[in-house]
Amino acid sequence: MLNAQELRKKYLEFFASKGHTVISSASLIPENDPTTLFTGSGMQPMVPYLLGEKHPLGTRISDSQKCFRAVDMDEVGDNRHTTFFEMLGNWSLGDYFKNEQINWIFDFLTEDIGLNPARLFVTCFRGDKKNNIPKDEEVANLWQKLFQKKGIDAKIVDYPEQGGLQDGRIFYYDANKNWWSRAGIPENMPDGEPGGPDSEMFWDFGIDLKFHEQSKWKDKPCHVNCDCGRFMEIGNNVFMEYLKVGDKFEKLKQQNVDFGGGIERIAAALNDNQDMFAIDLFTGARKKLEEVSGKKYGEDEKETYAFRVIMDHLRAATFLIDDGAMPSNKDQGYFTRRLIRRAVRYANDLGITNIFTPEVAGIYIEEYSEHYPSLQKNKELILNELRKEETKFRETLEQGIKEFEKLLKGFQLALEKTGHAITEISGKQAFKLYDTYGFPIEMTEELAKENNLTVDKIGFDESYKAHQQLSRQGAEQKFKGGLADHGEMSVKYHTATHLLHAALRQVLGNHVEQKGSNITAERLRFDFSHSDKMTDEQIKEVENLVNSAIQKDYQVSFAEMTIAEAKEKGAIGLFGDKYGEMVKVYTVGDPEQEVLVNVSSPTFSREICGGPHVEHTGIMGHFKIVKEESSSAGIRRIKAILE
Ligand code: ALA
Repeated sequence: MLNAQELRKKYLEFFASKGHTVISSASLIPENDPTTLFTGSGMQPMVPYLLGEKHPLGTRISDSQKCFRAVDMDEVGDNRHTTFFEMLGNWSLGDYFKNEQINWIFDFLTEDIGLNPARLFVTCFRGDKKNNIPKDEEVANLWQKLFQKKGIDAKIVDYPEQGGLQDGRIFYYDANKNWWSRAGIPENMPDGEPGGPDSEMFWDFGIDLKFHEQSKWKDKPCHVNCDCGRFMEIGNNVFMEYLKVGDKFEKLKQQNVDFGGGIERIAAALNDNQDMFAIDLFTGARKKLEEVSGKKYGEDEKETYAFRVIMDHLRAATFLIDDGAMPSNKDQGYFTRRLIRRAVRYANDLGITNIFTPEVAGIYIEEYSEHYPSLQKNKELILNELRKEETKFRETLEQGIKEFEKLLKGFQLALEKTGHAITEISGKQAFKLYDTYGFPIEMTEELAKENNLTVDKIGFDESYKAHQQLSRQGAEQKFKGGLADHGEMSVKYHTATHLLHAALRQVLGNHVEQKGSNITAERLRFDFSHSDKMTDEQIKEVENLVNSAIQKDYQVSFAEMTIAEAKEKGAIGLFGDKYGEMVKVYTVGDPEQEVLVNVSSPTFSREICGGPHVEHTGIMGHFKIVKEESSSAGIRRIKAILE
């Protein structure tokens, strides 16, 4: 049977054979996108091209994109949630549309990888009268014909949420299920955001209704979106042809297709096993955990949960560190830290007391290096960061035990003073142990029991929920920052980033490489490799260079070329591992001249980049570095403004 590695290969080969250029995955940390912390879907890096910008590699693109969804962290532990996953993707950028996409994907699933069509179910968009978007009967009919060809009489059913499956195979749902945009349903989309109706494909793990009957949905009819466990979504075809303009919808300049399918989910369907963690991508890590814990995956419910959390979290942390998110207290690094700490906490449930995270990460690095070669390159860094973080956290856990003992002493003193025994640990106290010292509530309960105490579980849940709401608000705030901001100030800051990058290499040396960039309309933030704090003189020198380039009013232009040509012309920037043939290269100054970063040079900077940029540097104003600080080991961070 096909494993996930082969599945990835087959998918990319299939779409290459349909004229698609296969590109390498973008980073998990979005470049120049201040609106979101992580790449959470394959389409995110494609937004400018879906909106109509020309992609240097053509109108048919395919890839396997690394994704991370932080919101799913607390869901991990069941058989289907992961924070990190790979999304197989193919795009039509104003090229083919519904007919080709549905035909190809059906062929791929049923012929190329041999999924039984009798176990496939699909959903289509019911339409949205308020926004004047019609029901997608075209796609429903396309599916019906394809099933027909396989000898399957596929009935189209509406309102499955109320009536259940009703012997149907093709179902209509509202926008909350069959509409895709980065912001969700049409009402939530900000001005300028693209989106469209979608059609999802589901795998039926079996007609055994016991999953439904045991679930919290048991009093409602079972249907493909009911989440009882019988069906699993394995792919989504988005027909992205709308643009939100104000509070209305207009057609985009072009009709796009955005297909995304989770590799792990399609592999689970191939395995015909609802447990996504049973696929080959996890086998090595699972065996390693069994070896270090002496426990067996799948034998005990609580332990199986712990196995899954650890397998997911350490894989995600491995990829996040590879993309530059070192464990820390802020931004992306905060999530890396949480992932590692949760993994260590759950390792308790498996009785693992020694440092183990680098060993598990090492297995993932071997497993994934062929497709993601940077893992091998950054191996030492990844293993070191994990070892450091785990060591630190294990010490915190010890402090937590001390904190617990202090609590007990307090209870003892109170008894001596008042004659009344306290027999319960309050919700707040339990939450402090959880939040500050990383104690899972189960651990507090166990310790309490050993000391003849109980825990106010309801109070704990209340504190926990209040805290969750706070962090959710935080996440929403981030997202509201304004999507795909191509406003004038952001564009100026983007060009300023190129000037800064060039100037830093001139002043500090050519070891300086961009490690991250985040732009808002108010400032730029730029992370780069350099180990020492910059001196005041160096900061001044960089500022002067950038300002001289602004005053010189250089022309900014771009050209498309091969990676080899770009390298030859001295372009800097991210070349990617296998990034197709053609790239877009922006030059500040004369595009025909060699780059020399000084005041009298005809050409100041040349960098691989998707744009957009200002046309002339003269309009940018005065550049000022407001902060220079450490971002993580070996990486400095500059915040700068244009006045
Ligand atoms: N962008 C679509 C998704 O993430 C394919 O589901």
